[in-house]
Amino acid sequence: MDRILVTSAIPYINGIKHLGNLVGSQLPADLYARYNRARGREVLFLCATDEHGTPAELAAARAGKPVAEYCAEMWQVQKDLSDGFGLSFDQFGRSSSPQNHALTQYFAGRLFEADLIEERTETQVYSPADGRFLPDRYIEGTCPNCGYDRARGDQCENCTKQLDPTDLIDARSAISGSTDLEPRETKHLYLMQSRMRDGLRTWIDGKTDWPLLTTSIARKWLDDGEGLRDRGITRDLDWGVPVKRGTEDWPGMEGKVFYVWFDAPVEYIAAAHEWADERGLAEADWHRWWRTDAGADDVRYVQFMGKDNVPFHTLSFPVTIMGTNSVGAEQWKLVDYIKSFNYLNYDGGQFSTSQGRGVFMDQALEVLPADYWRWWLLRNAPETSDAEFTWESFQTASNKDLADVLGNLVSRVTKFCRSKFGEEVPAGGQYGPQEEALIADLAARVATYTAHMEAIEIRKAASELRAIWVVGNEYLQSTAPWAAFKEDTGRAAAIIRLSLNLIRLYGILSQPFIPNAARTMLSSLHTDADWPDDVAAALTRLPAGHAFEVPENLFTKITDEQRADWATRFSGTRT
Ligand code: MF3
Ligand code: ZN
Repeated sequence: MDRILVTSAIPYINGIKHLGNLVGSQLPADLYARYNRARGREVLFLCATDEHGTPAELAAARAGKPVAEYCAEMWQVQKDLSDGFGLSFDQFGRSSSPQNHALTQYFAGRLFEADLIEERTETQVYSPADGRFLPDRYIEGTCPNCGYDRARGDQCENCTKQLDPTDLIDARSAISGSTDLEPRETKHLYLMQSRMRDGLRTWIDGKTDWPLLTTSIARKWLDDGEGLRDRGITRDLDWGVPVKRGTEDWPGMEGKVFYVWFDAPVEYIAAAHEWADERGLAEADWHRWWRTDAGADDVRYVQFMGKDNVPFHTLSFPVTIMGTNSVGAEQWKLVDYIKSFNYLNYDGGQFSTSQGRGVFMDQALEVLPADYWRWWLLRNAPETSDAEFTWESFQTASNKDLADVLGNLVSRVTKFCRSKFGEEVPAGGQYGPQEEALIADLAARVATYTAHMEAIEIRKAASELRAIWVVGNEYLQSTAPWAAFKEDTGRAAAIIRLSLNLIRLYGILSQPFIPNAARTMLSSLHTDADWPDDVAAALTRLPAGHAFEVPENLFTKITDEQRADWATRFSGTRT
């Protein structure tokens, strides 16, 4: 596969995301996108803001702004923060874009043609105290599945079950708390997901290489008779994608919008359309990523998300795609691989947006540059179980891995070279058994690292990368060029020549994790970033006489005082 399509779950527009959100989708997606670009593959990496639904409306109301204005502002805030973290999206779109409106309406029309959408008159929860129909998320109550008493009408946070508001026991309005909720009649569209059960099961059964976390959640809802219930895909709200079939009005659906979970995944596709439009590209240029009847056959499509998003991506969105593909010639791409994540906890509790608990993206960047955060978060990615952020762990990882191992190697080698040989790769001397052993060791380790990155085993990749840095340090320690220099300048020159090439190798391999430090390493060496398919050859790429500059120190250590200070500053809740 030479082309890789990567999407990260699109973050809700209301509010700044915390580090738990970041490591659950956008950051690992960026790691994978950067890795594939470094391998020379063509990558399209898409994300966007998820702007519809009541939370956006209510947040705008709280901010005293029209919802469209609020969303435009928050999009910019999120965009700046994702730039700050080095998230290398080709497009950071908006689910409220005209492209997404049109595509959402298109898919609804096709699903209707495929006989997968039914109109139903139903009674829905109306709250006289609030003067409105209450959308699912704004009804709270006890989960019928697990008994959690703050389950929402669309999903139980505790057991991940997808719910309808009427499933809740002791339902109340999440806006006013009023329990005076009355049923009223209204017409809605239903997506007949249950008809696709067999197709979905066959599809999931074929995904034997998917993470267990992904397939186990998918299977749970397939096996549970309720998991694939037909779902209402329209809402009585003002803000959203107006209900149409293609470009035609939908009789009886005037004034209604699509449910946010129907239009949000379509934004993965619409983001590619936005990407093409903003660059003056043709329709064919984004179709070749998304339509298998228009060139997307050789695209590998990988999605990243937190575990609470898995049901929507393994069941609901595939129903939209499979159902659409069952009529007509246009064939849309299904996901090839879903990488999902557990949760990151914060210092003995949960990160919480509603309670403002933990470290949020803006605060993190006020404290330290992105690479420190990226390194800790990725090396501790909650892949097979939940993970926990503590300030001790963050300090240790930053100081040991980044400052002591990598930063120190770069600084010692470049400074020693400058003082003894000048700012160019020194000539002379011979490689001996130590060099041969190092090169062989690195060749094996780079192969392991590459295999982990291909398999999106993030923690394993991080620990192999760290081991690759460590063997370089050990080499330098044991060959001690500063001592060798006194007796045999040629020998010291050979060690430093290899060490400068090591820095180049490390710069290339480290790009996906710590792109800023990697860029500094590579640019101070005035070198390219070709992927080291052949490690021995890669370590000869900086020949004697090649000029470089000593870079600024890559990392500074986190002091005990800073650690204590931040632990206190972020111990409470954000106001
Ligand atoms: N906004 C959702 C969340 O943060 C994710 C939406 S992903 C998509 O949980 F598939 F709907 F796009
Ligand atoms: Zn539950």
